[in-house]
Amino acid sequence: MSVHIAAKKGEIAKTVLQPGDPLRAKFIADNYLSEVKLVSKTRNIYYYTGLFKGKEISVGASGMGIPSIGIYSYELYSEFDVETIIRIGTCGAYTNELKLFDVLNVQNAASESTYAKFAWGIEGELIENQGKSFEKINETANELAINIKSVNIHTSDIFYRKDPAIPAVAEKYNCPAVEMEAFALFANAKYLGKNASTILTVSDIIPTREQISADERETALRKMMELALESALK
Ligand code: ADE
Repeated sequence: MSVHIAAKKGEIAKTVLQPGDPLRAKFIADNYLSEVKLVSKTRNIYYYTGLFKGKEISVGASGMGIPSIGIYSYELYSEFDVETIIRIGTCGAYTNELKLFDVLNVQNAASESTYAKFAWGIEGELIENQGKSFEKINETANELAINIKSVNIHTSDIFYRKDPAIPAVAEKYNCPAVEMEAFALFANAKYLGKNASTILTVSDIIPTREQISADERETALRKMMELALESALK
């Protein structure tokens, strides 16, 4: 048992799907996994373990932002011997070159965050996805005829800001969109020698303020969930 995840050793699978939202984790467990067991309820961040097409998979939320995913992913890797975490989340596009519902596979996460430096001594503003999971996602998307773009992403600590200009680090590393977690996930995986990838669906276009509606969210996110689950079989 770890500080923030109450599962016992052995109750979490080697591969974990990690949405930001606990209700999305429940949705995946309810709709895609069989023989599901609820293995942690700490802070209402429920973790479930079950079978997808016969393979053991766990799913549980990361919460929002670098500190939260920093904690959950670290404990999964180090206390539960998890080998692969696939983050599935949403992002905001900086330009209308991306469209609502576009699916992105994150090549590198760029951030102003000092998390990687102060946690692990990892210098630099850019951290790559870790291990083979990114390639497996691209292969799987190909097989399923899902259109996916490999991009760099900006991981920001900020959701609301007064200045609408694209932040410098996003410009510098050609990041067409922003989310709030991938950089910390990749940093933890890099430090611990584990696999980490991030699949994102564009949920809002920042300059035009378009966003996907609550009703559209479920169908839109299903594609990403199915892609993550199918990739996890490889
Ligand atoms: N996730 C989804 N939309 C976002 C945005 N606009 N900024 C940061 N994270 C996001």
